[in-house]
Amino acid sequence: MNVLFVSSEVAPFAKSGGLGDVSAALPRQLHAAGHDVRIVMPMYPRVRGVQGAVFVEAVSDLRLQLGPHDVRFSIWVTHMPGTALPVYMVRCPGLYDRPSLYGQAPDEHLRFIVLSYAAFKVAQHTGFAPDVIHTNDWQTGLIPLLLRTRFAWDKLFARTKTVLTIHNLGHQGAFPSSILPDTGLSDSKHLFHQEHLAKGRLGLLATALLYADAITTVSPTYAREIQTPEQGVGLDDILRARRHVLSGILNGIDEDEWNPEADPHLLFPFNSANLDGKERNKKHLLSTLKLPYRREVPVLGLVSRLVWQKGLELVTKVLPTLLQRHRFQLVVLGKGEPKYADFFRSMMRAFPHKVWFDSGFNEGKAHAIEAGADLFLMPSRYEPCGLNQMYSLRYGTVPIVHRTGGLADTVWPYNEHTGHGTGFVFENFDEGGLAWAITRALQVWGTGEGLYRQRWQQIMRNGMDLPLGWRHRLARYVDIYEGLVPAAKAERLAREARANAGAPA
Ligand code: ADP
Ligand code: GLC
Repeated sequence: MNVLFVSSEVAPFAKSGGLGDVSAALPRQLHAAGHDVRIVMPMYPRVRGVQGAVFVEAVSDLRLQLGPHDVRFSIWVTHMPGTALPVYMVRCPGLYDRPSLYGQAPDEHLRFIVLSYAAFKVAQHTGFAPDVIHTNDWQTGLIPLLLRTRFAWDKLFARTKTVLTIHNLGHQGAFPSSILPDTGLSDSKHLFHQEHLAKGRLGLLATALLYADAITTVSPTYAREIQTPEQGVGLDDILRARRHVLSGILNGIDEDEWNPEADPHLLFPFNSANLDGKERNKKHLLSTLKLPYRREVPVLGLVSRLVWQKGLELVTKVLPTLLQRHRFQLVVLGKGEPKYADFFRSMMRAFPHKVWFDSGFNEGKAHAIEAGADLFLMPSRYEPCGLNQMYSLRYGTVPIVHRTGGLADTVWPYNEHTGHGTGFVFENFDEGGLAWAITRALQVWGTGEGLYRQRWQQIMRNGMDLPLGWRHRLARYVDIYEGLVPAAKAERLAREARANAGAPA
């Protein structure tokens, strides 16, 4: 398949959360499986910081007239590190040279409308006929409609279909309808969501939901949840109407990045058959954080964007009491809203031997915490998929999660009678629920002492041995692509038949 993969963030060039991870891993896997994949993303200043990446100008002096904006940009090309997978970067300093990937500036919509147009320009200028344009979240939401309008004339796109992956329905790119001219589609006003326009709104994600040929989201449970009024964030009616093309495909983890046996960020490799390294990583982590180490005291890790979605309200309510009552340590790495950072800072002051917090974004520290912690806290209010609980499972760091979205699909409650289960799961999103789950985890931890923690190690191994990689998910995406473009599937089958006919019996 020819796949044009468009995303507002792609690791290692730019990442604010899981979207960056997935937008790197999925194209990599598709490319490794022999598909012709090309990535398109904005050229933020930070992309140049990636070691070994060489950038070459591919197309210069492009121009777009969008409403009153005369936008000039160029296209640069580099490769996914260690592969021949091309990454096309849209260079437009006026739009992308900002301190953070996303912002509140009045031209936020324009930044990503330009990205959406630029994806077509990349295809046209490189003569690449995509079978599928794979779009991600609201930032690329105009693409399905652009394909049916502005670029419908171009034969290059004659058999092109669009796939939209929803990574987070909470971010909808909903702007005032006055931005309509900036979409360059004022003449197609009737094609936007009419009720939204009547209410003075124009949503880029909503527009994509109307026109994408297939819609996926990042876990089966989230795919069901977003069709309900409670969790549909105002778009559940469109999602229900389009449920026949909607599917939930669990994200995978990049096993080259997240592998405790060969993680360059760790001093002590380990695996489920040999857990000694894990204990050493814990000791090392605590010494680098200047916290006292005691083998019998469990360390809870938390690595997260500090935002409402992540259930931190509950954490702020239950932690002070739990820290007073129980023996455990807490290590938090998180960037985001100041009120949460202030809370963790105050905990660090109140419990200097128990709590560590840092508000930076630090890839190496994230790995060190996943490896060195005993438990991982992820009480998200909602979670489309979540990657950190899967990294935790792979690293033998037992997750404590709220039963929602992808967390419900990846963490199984521990059952002490059968020994099955991989973590601690609470049903009700309230203080009681979270306090119960943490207390229960500490209790199970404590009771294992006399058994050389056999029971605990069983839970760790249950998680570490799960198949969490992309290999297991890729086929689902390829099925969707091939379902949309049967001609591409027929070509593949014919190729395979020829190869088989030529092969010796
Ligand atoms: P979301 O995409 O909603 O933030 P995910 O669990 O899917 O949640 O992905 C989060 C990703 O961002 C993980 O790779 C996690 O390690 C990373 N991450 C989040 N905050 C930080 C941070 N402060 N430093 C380093 N990595 C972080
Ligand atoms: C979003 C979601 C997260 C998901 C990630 C990658 O940021 O919040 O749950 O894992 O996208 O799909």
